[in-house]
Amino acid sequence: MLSGGKGTRLRPLTFTCAKQLIPVANKPILGYVLDQIKETGITNVGVITAPETQQNVKDYVQNGSEWGFNVAYIPQKPLGLAHAVKTAQPFLTEDSFVMCLGDNVTGQGIKGFVEKFQNQNLDALIILKEVDDPTRFGIAQLDNEGTIVRLVEKPKTPMGNLAIIGTYLFSSKVHQAIEHIKPSWRGELEITDAVQEMANRGFKVKAEILNSWWLDTGKKDDILSANAKILDEYVKRNVEGEVENSAIEGRVNIAQGAKVVNSTVRGPSVIGRNAVVKDSFIGPYTSVGDNSHVIQSHLEYSVLLENVVVENVERLEDSLVGKNAKVSRNKKASTIKLHIGDFSEVNV
Ligand code: G1P
Repeated sequence: MLSGGKGTRLRPLTFTCAKQLIPVANKPILGYVLDQIKETGITNVGVITAPETQQNVKDYVQNGSEWGFNVAYIPQKPLGLAHAVKTAQPFLTEDSFVMCLGDNVTGQGIKGFVEKFQNQNLDALIILKEVDDPTRFGIAQLDNEGTIVRLVEKPKTPMGNLAIIGTYLFSSKVHQAIEHIKPSWRGELEITDAVQEMANRGFKVKAEILNSWWLDTGKKDDILSANAKILDEYVKRNVEGEVENSAIEGRVNIAQGAKVVNSTVRGPSVIGRNAVVKDSFIGPYTSVGDNSHVIQSHLEYSVLLENVVVENVERLEDSLVGKNAKVSRNKKASTIKLHIGDFSEVNV
């Protein structure tokens, strides 16, 4: 399980939080990936960490007992996904393994892929999904039978639109291939090159096209769409908090200690622990983090992290608000007053 990387495209949130720990539907993305690993029956989990966010990840995963895992932490310098495999070799030994990127979630989990990999006695199984912008990903070219012809990491002139998603299954033969690849133009040992090398060596390498959604939560809009997808998929109506003079419509989860007063909350949405919603409308596809306050505001298709205050804001949409941030209306309607962190984005 990889949880390194700098998360530069998700700044400023990633100044204080590993990108894999950014919550969607009030639960870190990494948590959904760990749930999907648990479904496969795998219990030995090596977590690759980066120095900057190692503690953050450890605080969340701890000893893995929440999932029934034995967890080993494996620090790595950010030198590529194949470098991560190389670093983890003493942990992996000669075993076959699944490599998951901690910020990639799919709608179908990974159990089926593990079964296919084992039943067909493969050396590598990669999962593909059509994308709009192939230059952002590792891309696979297949022939008519679905056999891999070529794999290229972030091609400048793409030979197709099938991206390699962040779930890979390998036999120990991947280590031989990694010994023979060189760093790419971005200075990283690419897993894409390692899989190509495995194919060149005649190892049993297969690709499967994903038939559900896939989210790579690398930037703001991805977090918002991941939030929407996960709310759609997982949220059940469950009202534990206090509701007073309010309409709770559809699949809404109101956590313990939360208070909703004189408001409408429309699902799918979640309201975190000890959050307060007062005289407000919380629209569909919205997550309000623990201890956040939404007062006299209208909020839709948005994610508020913990301890956020939104006050007197007529309409906030498509927004991602970091921990302890405050968004409020200025009484002088023609003036905008800002106090925002580095790398923030404000659209007025
Ligand atoms: C990495 C892989 C790339 C893959 C992508 C999936 O990219 O190198 O092949 O398509 O993950 O998220 P990176 O996140 O390093 O840019």
